[in-house]
Amino acid sequence: MSEWTVPPAQLRLAPDELSAWLIPIDAPPHRLRDLAETLSPDEQRRAARFHFERDRIRFMAARGALRGILGAYLRRPPAEIVFAYSPHGKPSLADEPSLSFNISHSGDWALCAVALNRRIGVDIESIQPELAGQSIAERFFSPREVAELRALPSAEQSAAFFRCWTRKEAFVKARGEGLSLPLDRFDVSLRPGAPPALLSTLDDPREADRWSILALPAPPGYVASAVVEGPSPSRVFRFIQSP
Ligand SMILES: CC(C)(COP(=O)(O)OP(=O)(O)OC[C@H]1O[C@@H](n2cnc3c(N)ncnc32)[C@H](O)[C@@H]1OP(=O)(O)O)[C@@H](O)C(=O)NCCC(=O)NCCS
Repeated sequence: MSEWTVPPAQLRLAPDELSAWLIPIDAPPHRLRDLAETLSPDEQRRAARFHFERDRIRFMAARGALRGILGAYLRRPPAEIVFAYSPHGKPSLADEPSLSFNISHSGDWALCAVALNRRIGVDIESIQPELAGQSIAERFFSPREVAELRALPSAEQSAAFFRCWTRKEAFVKARGEGLSLPLDRFDVSLRPGAPPALLSTLDDPREADRWSILALPAPPGYVASAVVEGPSPSRVFRFIQSP
């Protein structure tokens, strides 16, 4: 976890930089109460609708932490952050659209990334080796990705599967179109050692040059990826949010 550092008191972000934030979900009760108080009425209602307590806590912890992170960049109290939502549900800042962000959660962690003036998507997944061998790849990945995955030694397939999954999911989230963007109509790299990349997109061949994929370090047992519009950021900060 040494790749993730405590953030400085004053946060700054330049246009060619990206900040990734790792957020532990298991906040202690007093911290969770503080985070919950920053949520808007619609977020409180959403939290109350979760069937499982664990999902409710995860949402409140991640959404509260996200408010804190965005508030620190904007020098604004977390409760004063106002979100807007795209037709497919992607949140953005209602009055500061130049500060773009995206968040993902899996298991004990949430991952958030923040950039300026470019679309961004992130995905974190806990590695579940049993999923890699099943027909999920054949169902969701492109033919090229499936061929590359199945050509790997079986010991490498699990990591490659989740590398591919998080890169695809982060791309879908960066575009913000949800699952209306068919997952089998674009290819990402997945082989061990291959640079993270959007290799091709069937619907618009120029699209592959418009996006950069970043492999982010993740806690043990997790894989994390980010996708940003434009060239790869010249600097990537990695901060861990204190629980
Ligand atoms: C909703 C979706 C964007 C992500 O869902 P997910 O993987 O379950 O969830 P993640 O934890 O990664 O991300 C959820 C967050 O993304 C954000 N989000 C919601 N809709 C979004 C959209 N259309 N675009 C980008 N981000 C979105 C929200 O902040 C949400 O967090 P919240 O619960 O605090 O509101 C959508 O792409 C989806 O359902 N994907 C599943 C696709 C799949 O089956 N993939 C197979 C392997 S490739």
